[in-house]
Amino acid sequence: MMKSEKEIHQHRKDEHLSLAYKYWKEERNQTLGLTFSDVRIIPNTLPELSTEKVELSSKVFGQDFEFPFYIEAMTGGGERADKINQTLAEIAKNQHLAMAVGSQSIALKFPELAAGFKEVRKIHSSGFLFANLGAGHSLENAKRAVEMIEANALEIHVNTAQELPMDEGDREFYWLENINEIASQLEVPVIVKEVGFGISQKTFKELSKTAVSGINVGGAGGTNFAWIERKRSKNGFDLDDFGFSTLESLLEAKTAENTKSLVATGGISSAQDIFKSLILGADLASSAGFILKNLMQTGPEKVEEILEQWKQDLNKLFVLTGSKNIAESHNVDLLYSAKMLDFIQQRKK
Ligand SMILES: Cc1cc2nc3c(=O)[nH]c(=O)nc-3n(C[C@H](O)[C@H](O)[C@H](O)COP(=O)(O)O)c2cc1C
Repeated sequence: MMKSEKEIHQHRKDEHLSLAYKYWKEERNQTLGLTFSDVRIIPNTLPELSTEKVELSSKVFGQDFEFPFYIEAMTGGGERADKINQTLAEIAKNQHLAMAVGSQSIALKFPELAAGFKEVRKIHSSGFLFANLGAGHSLENAKRAVEMIEANALEIHVNTAQELPMDEGDREFYWLENINEIASQLEVPVIVKEVGFGISQKTFKELSKTAVSGINVGGAGGTNFAWIERKRSKNGFDLDDFGFSTLESLLEAKTAENTKSLVATGGISSAQDIFKSLILGADLASSAGFILKNLMQTGPEKVEEILEQWKQDLNKLFVLTGSKNIAESHNVDLLYSAKMLDFIQQRKK
């Protein structure tokens, strides 16, 4: 029997979950370009600080974040997808973390699917929630997505390198004006978000002229949607080695003198990754695939343990470097690898 359009959408979401899990379980997250091991933290033997004095909270997008990391957008809009989102919402609530839902496009098209997304707000009733839509949606749809979960901000994902390897993917990408229109009119902050291929100086500069509040670098080094979509498609378009890593994207933000709030995503799987992102200028970091893998492999308790550990480790890393708060963490001294110096040299303004 032919699948309905709704079933096709839902099936795609399920395939994304299964393939992302497979990808992480098989440890395929290859190192593309510079990784966090290309930066070393310079020791500070006399930090003159105690763990009790460290402040991990900060104000971003006009709101207080108790910790500088959150659970990134993955799913929603099907039975399995909703269950995962709701478990993530429980985790985020218990851990006092923000959370993004996956693309709500499916629930705009099939309004009966909004209920699963709304459940996330019911569970994490006072948490910071990011709504999520693709960049081709209208302002009206952006408003509906935000209302659906009473979101505090909207992530607009930009995913050319995911769409092109998809047989059924988009082939037209005229987004900039629309993004600016949404960001100018929407009542909540708008964050433009890559999904794993990174962002270069040119894009930071283009976005600097728009009304967006934040940029999520969504760099390579974690979940690879080119690989996932190739597994789903028949065309074999191989983009595995394409893109800038999360670290490279953060360097690009610096060179472009980015002034928008900056989120580091893409392969974040330890407190050190988060800390190094902060040192390199990120205001927040977020993690998707690594959390999904642990959720599927060992369950929500294990994920909570990991997130709890990240908080404790971050606190210690702050002490180790004499950083009292997020603002001070941006000034920690680093040593760069020769590969990294080469990247900076090639990519200088
Ligand atoms: C199963 C899965 C589904 C995803 N779906 C979405 C989505 O609907 N919208 C979006 O903006 N990003 C989506 N992402 C991308 C993540 O939010 C993130 O940008 C990307 O996976 C890189 O981070 P990671 O390496 O920590 O996974 C998805 C990621 C995964 C693993």
